[in-house]
Amino acid sequence: MQHSGHTGAHETPGRWHILGAGRIGTLAACYLQRAGAETIVVRPGPAHTRRVSLVFDRETTSATKKLELTVKPATDCGPITLLLVACKTPYTEAALARLPLTDSATVVRLQNGLGSLDSRLKPGQRLIEGVTASAVMSQTEDTLRVVAENATTFGGGPRPTWFDGLAEHWPGLAWAADIRPVQWRKLVVNAALNPLTAIHDVPNGALLERPDLRAEMTTLIDEADTVLARLDQSWPANSHASVADVVRATAGNTSSMRADIHAGAITEIAAINGWLLQRAEELGLDLPAHRRIVARVHALEPK
Ligand SMILES: NC(=O)c1ccc[n+]([C@@H]2O[C@H](COP(=O)([O-])OP(=O)(O)OC[C@H]3O[C@@H](n4cnc5c(N)ncnc54)[C@H](OP(=O)(O)O)[C@@H]3O)[C@@H](O)[C@H]2O)c1
Repeated sequence: MQHSGHTGAHETPGRWHILGAGRIGTLAACYLQRAGAETIVVRPGPAHTRRVSLVFDRETTSATKKLELTVKPATDCGPITLLLVACKTPYTEAALARLPLTDSATVVRLQNGLGSLDSRLKPGQRLIEGVTASAVMSQTEDTLRVVAENATTFGGGPRPTWFDGLAEHWPGLAWAADIRPVQWRKLVVNAALNPLTAIHDVPNGALLERPDLRAEMTTLIDEADTVLARLDQSWPANSHASVADVVRATAGNTSSMRADIHAGAITEIAAINGWLLQRAEELGLDLPAHRRIVARVHALEPK
């Protein structure tokens, strides 16, 4: 079978609107354009064309891709049938409220954390959840560095018709009918790694090197596993090794929450540890380590 993307066996992914074309949203826009999709970034302010360079780090070489992004405000972006949400979680609700989504729109949420779009869509609209282990950093104002192109999973229910055409041009993109285990694995990693590195202002690797941080991390993982196992008895509740693998693989890196605190920005703690606390409260469980760490991160955020 021939796979040409634009004209071959798979459907072209169509017209996509993107909410949050920052680091990860711009990488997604690059893959969408490669797959032949039209991309429109929705952002407040005047319509314009944004030019951005993506520098791809590869083992033996690095390649640069120049991208042109059409940017339009919500009032002028046309009806939205396919939306990729890649803004940071605290801004999602307000940004989504202004968008002209059609009654049968599909929304792909490519964010860390959970729950930022729960109960925000109408009954006929579809939410697809995305989880990515890729990493993109800002290099200059109009240059992004793609540090890692790792596995990305979209999922929840049946595979949409546009998916295979997109997957052909998005390295490591796979579909999971049941996305929840993939989301929960990432959630536990984020819930342990992000707040500790932000509060102690350390690179990821310190969580295994320093006994005090290792102990805090162990408690956070145990509490997260406890609540997830109560939500789903099939949850293996043994996340220590998988978190340690991520810490080792990213030992020299600055976590996104540490970077947010350095930048004086609101963090995604509410969608990560806060989501676990909400589920725990519904179940009548207390998660003292998560409760304390959420308060400590909030204390570091801008007022
Ligand atoms: N970066 C990574 O490597 C990576 C990896 C895995 C997961 N993630 C997740 O992906 C999500 C996005 O992260 P990121 O690093 O890409 O963040 P980012 O670089 O800060 O990008 C967020 C973008 O959202 C835009 N935005 C904010 N409010 C908006 C609004 N009301 N309307 C339209 N656009 C708005 C921002 O625009 P302005 O800056 O112009 O305000 C910015 O371009 C997060 O949940 C993060 O945890 C990121």
